[in-house]
Amino acid sequence: MTPLPARSYGGRMALRIAVLLSGSGSSLENLAARIDKGEVDAEIVCVISSKPAAFGLERARRRGLPAHAVNRRSHDSDGSFNDAIHAILDEVSPELVVLAGFLSRVELRAFRGRIMNIHPALIPAFSGAGFYGDRVHRAVLEAGVKLTGATVHFCDAEYDRGPIILQQAVPVEDGDSVESLAARVLATEHEIYPRAIQLFAEGRLDVEGQVVRVLPSATGKS
Ligand code: GRF
Repeated sequence: MTPLPARSYGGRMALRIAVLLSGSGSSLENLAARIDKGEVDAEIVCVISSKPAAFGLERARRRGLPAHAVNRRSHDSDGSFNDAIHAILDEVSPELVVLAGFLSRVELRAFRGRIMNIHPALIPAFSGAGFYGDRVHRAVLEAGVKLTGATVHFCDAEYDRGPIILQQAVPVEDGDSVESLAARVLATEHEIYPRAIQLFAEGRLDVEGQVVRVLPSATGKS
């Protein structure tokens, strides 16, 4: 497959992004809309789902984005699953891999330091193995904490680990259900994920060990 031609934004080339998902794809939809509005200088060069029936794949197709299913269940080892994903990525040469509701463990060696994830809580709270989807919000409600939130981070080999790029707190309100809390957190995710990707596109994320510093913008605007 020939890589798509890069779009250019004000003379700057768009950041080439691959999106990996497993579910409804609301994060993909949001990111694509932010790109269309000019808020993120990027182009989505491929979408890969670990579940063939994921609605996120359908959303990708409707937008005319190259969409692939790599069914985790058709691979009997992490290694062969990783290789299958690598084979697709190698064809489109993304500069950043964006995990957007991607539920399978993946290790993409060639993209180390260039993989982002979003987690619907304030890492390291309510994170790690077993904390995904509604389970996160249920645990938050059961713990009785008054604040939760969303975290965008670079990925290392472990679940929900790696240098934190952006976090935003979300209040837990009296009478919240899993659904109401999840909706409030998701709205926050949809704000901070595109922002983190744009910071990466602008070359403003300086990583030292576990710490990410956001560098000032060249234009002086934040
Ligand atoms: C979000 O809660 C995100 O934190 C988690 O998956 C959910 C988004 O799924 N990683 P989707 O984009 O609607 O499929």
